[in-house]
Amino acid sequence: MEQLVEALKKAQATSFAFYLKAHNYHWNVEGHSFSEYHAFLGDLYAEVWGAVDAIAEHIRTLDAYAPGSFTRFQQLSSIEDEMSVPTGRMMMAKLLADNQRVLSDLMAAHREAEMLGKRGIVNFLEDRIDTHEKHGWMLRAFP
Ligand SMILES: [Fe+2]
Repeated sequence: MEQLVEALKKAQATSFAFYLKAHNYHWNVEGHSFSEYHAFLGDLYAEVWGAVDAIAEHIRTLDAYAPGSFTRFQQLSSIEDEMSVPTGRMMMAKLLADNQRVLSDLMAAHREAEMLGKRGIVNFLEDRIDTHEKHGWMLRAFP
């Protein structure tokens, strides 16, 4: 159970870091395609934001505490923090790479949940994996 909890904490922190980067880019993107990027990034951050809460509540269901501080998120996250303002095209490339990191952490948690027969968490993580695969498609499709 400990390994599942740790894997979920990591998936939560990585999802939070992904959410934050998408929101950061939504605020700061510039250029010709501003309105398309701004709107796409708005939908992206909002979708992932909702998932962070759901992952945290699954951790609580397992009777562990969910991480909720910048320090813990930074310790646990697989995603590098963004300190600059890249071009719109570079933002999409970075989010595409980070989306793969989210997928890896979700799949690691999924393996642990399957080993323990935690069907509800397995189903939840499969939905998250499916959604991030769609995010990957859209990020790749951007010019
Ligand atoms: Fe906004």
